[in-house]
Amino acid sequence: MNNQLLNTAREAAWAGVRVLSQLWNQAHHIEEKSKNDFVTEADKASEKAILSEIQSRYPDHLILAEESAKDWNKEALYSDEHLWVVDPLDGTSNFIHGFPCVAVSVAVLRHGQPLAGVVVDVSRKEEFAALKGKGAWVDGNPMRVSRISERGRSLVLTGFPFRQKHKLETYLGLFSQIFQEVSGIRRAGAAALDLAFVAAGRAEGFWETGLLPWDVAAGSLLITEAGGMISDYYGGNGHLTGEQVVAGNPHLHEWLRGKCQIYFG
Ligand code: IPD
Ligand code: CA
Ligand code: CA
Repeated sequence: MNNQLLNTAREAAWAGVRVLSQLWNQAHHIEEKSKNDFVTEADKASEKAILSEIQSRYPDHLILAEESAKDWNKEALYSDEHLWVVDPLDGTSNFIHGFPCVAVSVAVLRHGQPLAGVVVDVSRKEEFAALKGKGAWVDGNPMRVSRISERGRSLVLTGFPFRQKHKLETYLGLFSQIFQEVSGIRRAGAAALDLAFVAAGRAEGFWETGLLPWDVAAGSLLITEAGGMISDYYGGNGHLTGEQVVAGNPHLHEWLRGKCQIYFG
């Protein structure tokens, strides 16, 4: 069963990637959902293609997809039914500008546990996949988090709180603390891809505040199946809601989490 779930997640994610690839670098119809938060016809078309793949195979499963999610609540994530959590275009601002850091993210959860997850990098056509208890793969090859344990050699990824600008001062305080100790920080603009890159050992850690479940669901399984750790700022599993997300290899996660807790806990 779980292998079939992963196959469906992959088929669905690639259906979204095909749609986005066709629309890449074209003029977009842009709507502003809220300040600085955009949606285009590409987000919607990708979601339609993804959901059609899922629903044709699993018509009874529940769905939480960004562009059709209305009144989702935290309890929905812990349903005892299968729940598909979909971000049809992670990095909409990047997509609008032709900045090539965009992804599709598809996960299936049960009882609040991701069972299978796929993130595809739309520009590079690179696929990151994980199956609970079985491992994580990049383009079919096993992937692991990085082994770097020295903070001074670490590259850390993050996202800016652009929807919660009242948190900017706090964020900058935390940024400054982390920046003093690591070798570099990057903000590429697609959280699902940030998590995939940590899972693939291309960066040592990631933190962001104010994400949503579809940004995190697939990436969180990539991280744990690749040997990394992910949590909320208290070390619990509240990261699935997206509000507090901190991930890393086992050497760096606890240090990064502690810093986030001091500032945002
Ligand atoms: C966004 C991206 C971005 C993060 C935002 C997300 P979207 O997703 O992941 O990196 O900073 O918080 O909302 O809206 O482009 O799907
Ligand atoms: Ca997103
Ligand atoms: Ca999105």
